[in-house]
Amino acid sequence: MAPASRVLGYDTAGNGDVLLLVHGFPLDRTMWAEQLSGLSDVRKVVAIDLRGRGKSPDEEAEDWAIDLYADDIAATIDSLGVDKVDLAGLSMGGYVCFSLLRRYADKVRSLILIDTKAAGDAPEAKEAREKTAAMVREKGISELVEVLLPKLLTQDANEAVREKGRAIFENVPRETAAADSLAMRDRADYTPDLASISVPTLVIHGEQDQIMPIDAARQMAEAIPGAEFMGIANAGHLAPIENPDGVNNAIREFLSSS
Ligand code: MLT
Repeated sequence: MAPASRVLGYDTAGNGDVLLLVHGFPLDRTMWAEQLSGLSDVRKVVAIDLRGRGKSPDEEAEDWAIDLYADDIAATIDSLGVDKVDLAGLSMGGYVCFSLLRRYADKVRSLILIDTKAAGDAPEAKEAREKTAAMVREKGISELVEVLLPKLLTQDANEAVREKGRAIFENVPRETAAADSLAMRDRADYTPDLASISVPTLVIHGEQDQIMPIDAARQMAEAIPGAEFMGIANAGHLAPIENPDGVNNAIREFLSSS
């Protein structure tokens, strides 16, 4: 039986309209620490933990899906007592935002896509997801820290940033990381949705993102009617961690004008 949706745990700061932040893989809500503190004067910032980590513990890491993660967020939005949120997602969190927008469009006031893409996985990428799931199950998160974390940061990332990335990875149980990987393997291709996105949209991308080239993000923004695009200097794939001020300024300006 497919798992049922659930309300997620989160950290929050500030008051007013909700800005809901969806983390990437293999991460958790703590990746948004600088956005919680830096944007709480303009929104009630809510940084959720997707199921299976942090404040959303769940040991049944079987048959999870990007759509299920979106269902969980929809239930969480309802539990917050609000109709709509400004919705931001990083990378895998962006895939979840696309799913939420597809299936719960009335809950989204505006959309912020950070270091993400709309395209689904090609066959060889699907195979790599299976290898990642098997590898992390067998060897644990420390292997992902070695293999993946360096690709998510710029070569110039300082030790504090590297340590922060490592600590966030290590918060995530290995079975959860494996389930995330398989959920990403099976996600839809959201490219056909781009032309019909009708909420104000901002695309933010680290200029040195090694795993998702910035040109593709620019093209994605061009395909969304009226979308704004902002490149973030001195940042790779984890732009909100490597250049929090750049990301916060872009989000602040967008929210004040949308
Ligand atoms: C992420 O940062 O969430 C992942 O790198 C996304 C992906 O592997 O497609």
